Amino acid sequence: MPQQAHTQQARKILVTSALPYANGSIHLGHLLEHIQTDIWTRFQRMRGHQCYSVCADDAHGTPVMLKAQELGISPEEMVAKTRDEHHQDLLDFNVQYDNYHITHSDENKDLCNLVYNRLKEAGYISQRTISQLFDPEKNMFLPDRFVKGTCPSCGAEDQNGDSCDVCSATYDPTELKNPRSVVSGAEPVLRDSEHYFFDLPQFEGMLQDWLKSGAIQVEMANKLQEWFEQGLQQWDISRDAPYFGFEIPDAPGKFFYVWVDAPVGYMASFKNLCDKQNLNFDEFWGKDSDAELYHFIGKDITYFHCLFWPAMLEGAGFRKPTGVNVHGFVTVNGAKMSKSKGTFIKGRTYLDHLNPEYLRYYFASKSGDAVTDIDLNFEDFAQKVNSDLVGKVVNIASRCASFITKRFDGKLSSTVLEPELVAEFQQAESVIAEAYEKRQFNRAIREIMALADKANQFIDANAPWVTIKDETKQQFTHDVCSLGINLFRILVSYLKPVVPTLAAQSEQFLNDSLTWQSGQSLLTDHAINKFKALLQRVDMDKVNAMVEDSKENLAPTVQLDPNSPLAKDPIAETISFDDFAKIDLRIAKIAKAEHVEKADKLLRLELDLGGETRQVFAGIKSAYQPEDLEGKLTVMVANLAPRKMRFGMSEGMVLAAGPGGEDLWILNPEEGAQPGMKVK
Ligand code: 2FM
Ligand code: ZN
Repeated sequence: MPQQAHTQQARKILVTSALPYANGSIHLGHLLEHIQTDIWTRFQRMRGHQCYSVCADDAHGTPVMLKAQELGISPEEMVAKTRDEHHQDLLDFNVQYDNYHITHSDENKDLCNLVYNRLKEAGYISQRTISQLFDPEKNMFLPDRFVKGTCPSCGAEDQNGDSCDVCSATYDPTELKNPRSVVSGAEPVLRDSEHYFFDLPQFEGMLQDWLKSGAIQVEMANKLQEWFEQGLQQWDISRDAPYFGFEIPDAPGKFFYVWVDAPVGYMASFKNLCDKQNLNFDEFWGKDSDAELYHFIGKDITYFHCLFWPAMLEGAGFRKPTGVNVHGFVTVNGAKMSKSKGTFIKGRTYLDHLNPEYLRYYFASKSGDAVTDIDLNFEDFAQKVNSDLVGKVVNIASRCASFITKRFDGKLSSTVLEPELVAEFQQAESVIAEAYEKRQFNRAIREIMALADKANQFIDANAPWVTIKDETKQQFTHDVCSLGINLFRILVSYLKPVVPTLAAQSEQFLNDSLTWQSGQSLLTDHAINKFKALLQRVDMDKVNAMVEDSKENLAPTVQLDPNSPLAKDPIAETISFDDFAKIDLRIAKIAKAEHVEKADKLLRLELDLGGETRQVFAGIKSAYQPEDLEGKLTVMVANLAPRKMRFGMSEGMVLAAGPGGEDLWILNPEEGAQPGMKVK
């Protein structure tokens, strides 16, 4: 079969991941993207393309500046240290960029000035005075997230400068009531300042064409249409001193907004690589570049990468991205990562307990080309790694290797059994390559695991552990085990972009280095090395220890009395107003209450909702005799999904208060309430 890499010219490709901010640690959310980028890059390199990947730390902006002040060190010192930590974390996950730079660099400063000067010369920059909240104690303008106050819409206190967590209203920070600076606590004042703007609306036609060119997933392109419908706005690209960033040329005291110099940081990191390796920068960034340029990003920053960034590039005479590959967020065990639950897991904490290849494999097995969120469910994680990588792939080698070593002089046989099975493994190459190319890593993994199943079936069917005992079947046993090892080799060549360490150890065992094309020929009459365990099973105790280590003690600022119920039972995580509004609370009359046979805690209640009767099993037996309840009014959650219990369906929940046991009071509404009434 003709191989794509043979028929296709080597491509020139530059790949980036979003630049992590230099004021926090790399966590599993970041790692999804870096791992996706690394898998894709490794795949392209294996296919013989000239593929470079660059990243950097995103060093500038107010949060970074304030964090350094908090730590009592210079921002330069803090970002340099954080950059090194980030880079080491990534390397330890086998994420290998050709260059990992920092946006606070000479290359970036020069390129920002170049981009800005070109935009200015072309007439895309204007100036205008705007009014903004200013902290009179800190002597600085306040970004929206550094102002808090009372929501102008619902009156909730301590809300952010731009939106309310309670009622979801969005507003201008100047509309907040009783505003406070998060930095000093002072009341902000309005102050005028001259800002610089980039003329984004001029690029509307170009952006629409670019979005239609297939540069971005259709779902994201459609979402971006909302911005066009609202009308593109002039983009404010300057910030006033004090600001950690680059000063705008000929504008003392004015700095580039961090979102200007961050994407230019992609170019700067590549420029730094070009200088080290004598590469041609313009071949990749010049207007007429024939190289491909891809940015891997999370969905929250699409707006910057698909509107401002292509417009800046176009306006400054550079090429635009070939593609922006957007992924969704990472959730853990079905919920947003949470510091109190220990599911906000830093890369370093993960590495302290678990093998990075597990996470690479798991993320690959869940990553498609859509913008959907990816859930890391620890049970599923352990199950998938153990059953696929250990139970299927590594198992093939471990079942065959010892016979080769002990009985056949460590050499694979010269005969190939089952050429049809071999052909199937070889032909799968194009489908697997296509899946990798399209970033459908989940599809690639499914294809590879289906082959792994076939390899195991082949070994099961021929049972070398039985035939080895039969003197007349030695050649056959040798051939079976040799084919098993060859099938393992093909599978590992396909998995190499995902699990490079497992691949490297397999290469050592196979005494061979694996390329994308390796599987197209088999190893015959070939000496292999002694097999050593390639991968341990995921140990749930280690997963649990990692979660424990990740639990941040979010002690409330007020020291709690140890006897307070809150000390024993902390308040659960905040839910949104929308979540709360989904709960339909109703007055219900307890029409009937009775014991439930064999249930220690439950009473069966029939609740009259004024036209509808519900059966609810309530755990209040320790506090009430059924006859005391009949005829009483209570409050129930009326829209809870029915639950099948051992004793029958429970169609709602009555609300009770108290620590339990005898001290449990069902909520008893005031007189005048009618069954079915909504509780507000
Ligand atoms: O959202 C973020 O984490 C940013 N630091 C990403 C910057 S990506 C690019 F534009 F530099
Ligand atoms: Zn509100």
